[in-house]
Amino acid sequence: MSSECFREYRQYIEKYLSDFYSRFDSEPQKALFEAMKYSLLAGGKRLRPIFAFEFCRLCGGDWKNAAPFAGAIEMIHTYSLIHDDLPCMDNDDYRRGRLTNHKVYGEAMAVLAGDALLTDAFALAASAQLPRPGDMALAIGVLSENAGSLGMVGGQVLDMLSEQRQCTEQEVLDIQSRKTGALINAACVLGAIAGGGSEAQLEAAAGFAGCLGLAFQIRDDMLDVIGDAGELGKATGHDADKNTFVRLYGLEKCEQLVQKYTDAAIERLAVFEDADDLIFLARSLTERKV
Ligand code: IPE
Ligand code: IPE
Ligand code: MG
Ligand code: MG
Ligand code: MG
Repeated sequence: MSSECFREYRQYIEKYLSDFYSRFDSEPQKALFEAMKYSLLAGGKRLRPIFAFEFCRLCGGDWKNAAPFAGAIEMIHTYSLIHDDLPCMDNDDYRRGRLTNHKVYGEAMAVLAGDALLTDAFALAASAQLPRPGDMALAIGVLSENAGSLGMVGGQVLDMLSEQRQCTEQEVLDIQSRKTGALINAACVLGAIAGGGSEAQLEAAAGFAGCLGLAFQIRDDMLDVIGDAGELGKATGHDADKNTFVRLYGLEKCEQLVQKYTDAAIERLAVFEDADDLIFLARSLTERKV
């Protein structure tokens, strides 16, 4: 993830998210904003905003026009992490290199910080200026579907309910596509919409996201076994009872699967003229340590 272009995207989204909430500094519910900003501005790879910006650019748009979508998706992603870490879910103490939200602010505030990030995200997304203004309804539908019961939340539920039994490969693929692939799908497709992309370009963005999302979650599951907690900023060794690909097939086969899905993702970029940076990023994610 070293390309100059993506560094600019990352710096831009950091400031954008920080500015978004600094407007509310005089509101009385300061404790809520503090908890939200604690997790939202804690770093993170900002991969989903990068995808949104880059698909906007690849479709011929000014990448900064994708910022409301990029910010919204990072807010929804951050809320999903706050809730994922709660004692009633994965019960984790560290995230993004610091104590988890509920460890610092308590469970009730962590739930509410997540609720607020999710809800605020839709107002931010709806503020985007699109080349085809009529596409806003499509964009909000894509965001909602990928975040909600059919997407990320649905995937988290399937993940949770599957802990007590052995899943088939098809079931694990479905869980991972929803819990992680869905928000990556929203990032790529909304980026393409912000860039005024054609139907074929939107389809390619979705195809890329579907494959890349699987590769990304399989690598996440591998890092739970081989990763370094200090480097990752979150605990390892927590997924032994979960239906991960590592549990199904072991590490070696997972390495091959990450390559396979990454290659398939890259193939979907053939419709774009200038996708070298994105191809570089996708390849570098296969060996990521964080
Ligand atoms: C972690 O996502 C949760 C998964 C969906 C695997 P990231 O690895 O993108 O986390 P951050 O945003 O960099 O912290
Ligand atoms: C979480 O998957 C995916 C979300 C929707 C948050 P994990 O539970 O594997 O994510 P980490 O490993 O805690 O980041
Ligand atoms: Mg989880
Ligand atoms: Mg977790
Ligand atoms: Mg994990």
